Amino acid sequence: MFRKILYPTDFSDCAVKALEYVKKLKEAGTEEVVVVHVMDVREIATMATGVAWAGETTVVYEPEIQEMMRANVEKKMAAVKEEIENEGLKVSVKTPDGIPFKEILKIVEDEDVSLIVLGSHGKSNVREMLLGSVSEKVIRGSKRPVLVVKRDQI
Ligand SMILES: Nc1ncnc2c1ncn2[C@@H]1O[C@H](COP(=O)(O)OP(=O)(O)OP(=O)(O)O)[C@@H](O)[C@H]1O
Ligand SMILES: [Mg+2]
Repeated sequence: MFRKILYPTDFSDCAVKALEYVKKLKEAGTEEVVVVHVMDVREIATMATGVAWAGETTVVYEPEIQEMMRANVEKKMAAVKEEIENEGLKVSVKTPDGIPFKEILKIVEDEDVSLIVLGSHGKSNVREMLLGSVSEKVIRGSKRPVLVVKRDQI
């Protein structure tokens, strides 16, 4: 029933907690996992603006920042891939640029996944929020079942 899982991660504590459920779902018949980290275009722009305040234009630095962030993400994704492969699951990795929820929902369609497993919260982890904005929009927009793994503090 849950043959192919989509696991979106921002590498936050809550997403790491969700990874434990991804691994355990092998017992429920999961064979394949698509891991996705969306390189948030807005985040890259914000960082580049920070550099601009140091006296340079964003145009000069944006490609370098993007390259540094991408290298960091590729390294983290390789570790996640290995961790899931060690459970005996087939893994593919995607790191598209864009708006996270949109890219995640696109992959749900393109890859025809049977289940999405994600964290209720991510890096922001605002105490008052029931859900983060990415998880909320993915739940709203997905035609497939979503397993939402809650953060440790309630
Ligand atoms: N850029 C991303 N790429 C892939 N998955 C993501 C990304 N951002 C968040 N997620 C997934 O969505 C879950 C919820 O994160 P979300 O970003 O919604 O919460 P937040 O960071 O606390 O809030 P917000 O981003 O709205 O400030 C994460 O645990 C992760 O599974
Ligand atoms: Mg977030």
